[in-house]
Order: sequence, then C-alpha cells, then structure tokens
Amino acid sequence: MHTKFFVTTPIYYVNDKPHVGSTYTTVAADALARAYRLRGIPTLFLTGTDENSQKNLEAADKAGAKDLQSYLDGMALIWQKTWRELGITFDDFIRTTEERHHRAVEKFWKSVEQSGDIYKATYEREYCVGCESFKTPFDLQDGKCPLHPNRPLEKVSEENYFFRASAYAQDLLKLYHDKQDFVQPQSRQNEIRSYVKNAFEDFSISREAKKLACGISVPGDESQRIYVWFDALVNYMSAVGYGTDNKLFAKWWPATLHLVGKDIIKFHCALWPAMIMSAAKSDPSLRYANGEPKLPEHIFAHGFFTIEGQKISKSLGNAVDPLDLVKKYPFDAVRYYLLREISFGEDGDFAAQRLEDRYASDLANNLGNLVNRSVSMSRKYFDNRIPTTNIQETLRGLPETVWGGADNLEGLWQTVDQYIEASRWDMALEAIWSGEAVSLSAANKYVEQTQPFRMIKENPENAAKVLYTLLEACRHFAWMVEPVMPNVAADIIRQLGQDPETERQKGIKELKKWGGLQPGAELPEPKILFPRLENKKI
Ligand code: MSP
Repeated sequence: MHTKFFVTTPIYYVNDKPHVGSTYTTVAADALARAYRLRGIPTLFLTGTDENSQKNLEAADKAGAKDLQSYLDGMALIWQKTWRELGITFDDFIRTTEERHHRAVEKFWKSVEQSGDIYKATYEREYCVGCESFKTPFDLQDGKCPLHPNRPLEKVSEENYFFRASAYAQDLLKLYHDKQDFVQPQSRQNEIRSYVKNAFEDFSISREAKKLACGISVPGDESQRIYVWFDALVNYMSAVGYGTDNKLFAKWWPATLHLVGKDIIKFHCALWPAMIMSAAKSDPSLRYANGEPKLPEHIFAHGFFTIEGQKISKSLGNAVDPLDLVKKYPFDAVRYYLLREISFGEDGDFAAQRLEDRYASDLANNLGNLVNRSVSMSRKYFDNRIPTTNIQETLRGLPETVWGGADNLEGLWQTVDQYIEASRWDMALEAIWSGEAVSLSAANKYVEQTQPFRMIKENPENAAKVLYTLLEACRHFAWMVEPVMPNVAADIIRQLGQDPETERQKGIKELKKWGGLQPGAELPEPKILFPRLENKKI
C-alpha cells in the first residue's frame, strides 16, 4: 500500500448545494481516506469549493445576494455543513477565494511564465459557461456543448494570455505510456490519449477583467483575470502550502489520488500535468531529485449518475439533496449502496428501489442476520458470554464444512487491501459478501450447515468452536467494512462486547489477527443493526 495517502475530490462550484453526484465523489474519497487511516498510513483528505467562477456570479445574482462574497461565504458553509452532517472526514476544506490559494496561484503562474510558456494572443472561440471552458469544434455536437445542450455558447473574442500546453503533448503521451495507472480506469486512458494526440491545443488562461467580475488578477496585469480552471487546479497544491508553507508542501505533495468525474478528465489528466511539467522547469520544489516533475500519482475518473434513469438536473427537480436522503435511509446504507451498486469508473443509476433491495438482502438478511444470530446463540447457550474454547482449535472450520478458516480470512484481507489500493470498493465489498472460502455468505452457510442450535445438545464443544468462529468472523468483517459503514461497524464491535475506539488504537496488524475476542468475555444484549425502513418519500 502507499506510504502516505493524499486524496482529493474536485472542488465544487457553489452555484448549487451538494447533490447525489457530488456526494458520490465525496463518499468514495471518504471511504478510501478512512481505510488508509485505519491502516495507520498518514492520510490527508482534501475537498473544497471552486469560487472564482462565472457560474457562481450568475447564481449569486439570481439568488438576489447582497454581494458576491456573502453569497460565496453562505454557500461554502452549506457545503461544509452538509459534509459534516454526513460524517465526511475531510481534513481540509479549501476555498479558492482564500488568501493561501491566491498566493499559490500567483506563484504557480509566475513559474510557468518564467519557463517561457505564457504568451499573449487574440482568441476567438465559443465558451460554455456550464463547463467553464472554451470549446473546439472537436468538443461540440451539432454545434452545441454535449453536456449543456440547452445553454447557448458565448462567442468570445479578446486578447488573452495563453499557456503553451501543446509543447507538452509528447511528454504527456510518454507519461500515459510509461505509467499505465496514471489515469484509471483503462477506458478513460484511451479517451485521454486520443484527445492529447488529436486535439490538445494551447489554452487561453485569462479573461479580460472588465468582462469578468470575479477571479484572481494576472500577476503584473490588472486588466486580465486568471481563467477559472487554471486557478482551480492549483487548489490541490495551495491546500498543502504551495507558496505559503514549504515544509508542509514537501511533506504532502504530490497528491496520491485525484478522484474526479469523467466530465473533467481533460483538465485533470492533460492540462494539470502539463501545467506542472511547465512550472517544474523553473521551480525546484516541483521536481524530484532526478529532475522529474512531481505529478499527482493517480487520477481515477468515476462515471456519471442518473436518478431513476434520468439525468440529474435542476429543471427536472430530481437533484436529491443528500440531507433529505439520510432522513429516509441510514447514511451507512446509502454509502454502502453507492459504493457497491455501481462498478467504480462506470456510469450508474441511483434508484430508491435498488437501495431498498440491497438494504434488505445484503445488509439486513446477510450482515445483520449473521451478527444477530451469532451473538444471540452465544448468549443463549453460553451464559451471555463469548464461548470458552481453545482459539488455536478454531483456526480452521470444522472438517467437511464450507468455512475456509483463518488462512482464507487472511487472504480476504489481502484481497480487500488490493482493491482499496485500486480504489475499487465495489470489488472489495463483493469479495467480503460473496467470496467463496470465507465471506458473509459463507459464514451464514456455515451456520446452516453446522446448526449450532442442534449441535449444542450433541457436541457442546464443537458448538462452542463454531460460535466462537462466527463471532470472531463478525469482528473481522466489521473492521473490513468500517471505512464504508463506520457506524454499523462500531455497533457490531460493541455488540461483540468491545469498545471500538480502544480496539482501533491497537492498530490494524492486531485487528487482522485471528483471536481478537476473549473467550468468556461478556456479550451485551444485541440490537437490530438494520431496522425495517419506514416508507417515507425522499
Ligand atoms: N469546479 C469544477 C472542478 C474543479 S476541480 C479542480 C467542477 N465542479 S462541479 O461542481 O461541476 O462538479 C464536480 C464533480 O461533481 C464532477 O466532476 C463529478 O465528480 C461530480 N458530479 C457532478 N454531477 C455528477 C453526476 N450526475 N454523477 C456523478 N458525479 C457527478 O467541475
């Protein structure tokens, strides 16, 4: 696994509040960050808001805000509050109107300028405010932006500063070739390679200040403002002290993983590394000792969500507010559904019925039932305690049974770790639920096969072994799913008679060992982990 983990979400435009799409990226980042923290790896999880955008200006106007800044402050607070209420464990929240960000962007601009990659030219292009980007004929479908077909393009003709991006096309292609996991998943890699090969042009990186009432001024030229993407991408560096705290920057940069939606891969996988390659030529803090530029290590692009088969849009009124969602469903269940249902990297649909089906089958019937019957039977037959047995003798399942034993559980841990490293929670969860030798399903089958409620009369010693195995397996499964369902995991650990925080302090190596439960320790009365869902409309 990585030795440090610096994960980012895109910084979100504040022309609206969070919806299920932005929640998806943020939850995915949160579940990874929690997994690395649990494994004792220094972790930094960054999210934030993209505030120097024309879109925000329009939204502030529409909302009748007193002034732009108070609108931005109010919205940034809504985003922070929403993530906090959802239990998102971000370590830092960057706003691009902050002083630390302005300083970083200015330093970055000057480095690129010093490398000789900024020049002035007259530009004439169509601009899509929805995307905040210029469109080449390559980008358009029937003369319209495919992402915002109802929004007329603006014809922009002005003298701007340009970034000599095209000079880096060959270096980018070499990067994609040499580092196959730079852009993930594979399908996006092909898309980005073809873009850089065929259509990667110099970028206009400023707009006339008189036409744009927000943004950071171009250093040394007040008449121009920095283009919002050239400013926004630098957030990943400004949050870790670029231009303000060299020590912090040296500690955290480069980012381990930028999580983004597939709509913004050109900016992240092509423009951003090209910008860094250029700035690194004149800024040693952006270079490794061997002279190579410090590029982000991985960029993972997830797919797009529809809701009940329809595109998320304000006009359809289907932009589900995550805070409403958690009034109806426990957030752990929403997190589980989002990360399990959609194969990470592909498009997916958010359907309440599917969530409810998974809640009933995967959570209540499989995980909940396993914990409940293991704890209840142990309490019933062993005086409210964990059965007293020789732990060594529980390393393997009883002969001729489905349970694969502690060796296979160790294998499952390795599988889960590998999938986490590949950002694939969907696959990790599938392995935990359905893996052959050991999994939640295998544990439930083990109960059916061994029938401890019968065995207790005929062979109490074996019944003790089976029940100890099941309880200990529940402990392992709880820690495996903890990053995705932190509250559920803590509840399971408590039901096993342990304090989750004391256990966490022991470190992952201890937690992964077989035999963490003390035979004879008391088991509290179990509570239902996944109560029936009430029928409230979201
Ligand atoms: N501000 C830029 C990002 C700058 S990062 C340097 C931006 N913001 S955004 O608010 O429009 O969208 C951010 C991200 O939200 C998208 O990349 C994507 O990750 C996520 N999503 C927005 N709508 C989505 C869906 N319908 N489905 C899945 N994710 C979606 O772009």
